Amino acid sequence: MSHVTSGGGVSSDIVTAAQLDSEAAAQRGRVEVRALHSHQELTESRAVWDAVWPTFPGATEITGNLLRAMEHAGGYVGGAYVDGRIVGSCLAFVGRTRGEHGWHTHLHSHVAAALPGFADRGIGTALKLHQRAWALRHDIDRIVWTFDPLVRRNARLNLVKLGGIGVEYLVNFYGEMDDALNVGDESDRLLLQWDLASSRVSDALSGQLAPVSRAEWLALGATDALVDTGDGPRFLGISSPVLLCAVPDDIVDIRRMDLPLAKVWRRQVRATIEPVVAAGGRVVGLTTDGYYVVEVAS
Ligand SMILES: CC(C)(COP(=O)(O)OP(=O)(O)OC[C@H]1O[C@@H](n2cnc3c(N)ncnc32)[C@H](O)[C@@H]1OP(=O)(O)O)[C@@H](O)C(=O)NCCC(=O)NCCS
Repeated sequence: MSHVTSGGGVSSDIVTAAQLDSEAAAQRGRVEVRALHSHQELTESRAVWDAVWPTFPGATEITGNLLRAMEHAGGYVGGAYVDGRIVGSCLAFVGRTRGEHGWHTHLHSHVAAALPGFADRGIGTALKLHQRAWALRHDIDRIVWTFDPLVRRNARLNLVKLGGIGVEYLVNFYGEMDDALNVGDESDRLLLQWDLASSRVSDALSGQLAPVSRAEWLALGATDALVDTGDGPRFLGISSPVLLCAVPDDIVDIRRMDLPLAKVWRRQVRATIEPVVAAGGRVVGLTTDGYYVVEVAS
């Protein structure tokens, strides 16, 4: 199979393979995924985000006008349907970054969500693979998005199942947030880079990035930087080129039950990962028992 060069020129066999990956994921998740355009469809997609990130009565995550404009300007809105009812949706708009070879166009995926009761059955994967196939068809070979590094489910989906890499640590990216998932905590985010036509991504999609356990990484020479003591995180220091950093099983629950502990997790994960990534390191995986695998820049 041929590969692409950065900045477009995606080969047709990669586009075809991505389409097949997308269809297979939709089948596994037992959903129909499609790009959304009409007012009716866009309204349905907004209802998903407002259900997942409930905020003040009458307020909305993304206004209808703004969504319409982003879709019309070349953005992507995707919806996952079960029996004709929307159960998940995601939104991405076109962005660009300046690299060594000039400007590079990418998709910035802003929100992706499955309705409560529909998590963990592959709908997130199906949405992202539909978005990937759409992007490649539109000659875009990279999607980036941010996610809260304290949410372990998203870490597994993004790093292990999809094969993205954490390339930037953004401290308190959105400032204070008032939706029910984020309220009370600072909004640190890890910027994920998903190089759609890379061999890392095809390996991930064929299950070849299956994560090993923390013990196996330790046996390979990685060292613990932040461990979970059971009562919270403890920083041990940075002492090898491959670090392991604990992430709690369910931060949303911790935020609800014990906000001070959630804040300790926030500060400790930030103190562990941010300086390493700022110095050129990368977050490349998540162990089966919930530790980030972080490569230190050489
Ligand atoms: C993030 C989200 C879109 C993912 O969708 P989804 O349909 O649950 O995703 P998938 O089922 O494809 O993948 C989730 C994976 O995480 C795993 N997972 C769930 N909880 C986990 C945890 N605490 N630790 C490790 N893995 C976990 C699931 O088992 C699944 O992996 P598997 O298929 O190998 O078993 C959805 O959960 C959601 O709407 N979350 C709330 C909103 C959000 O955070 N959106 C992302 C930021 S914009």
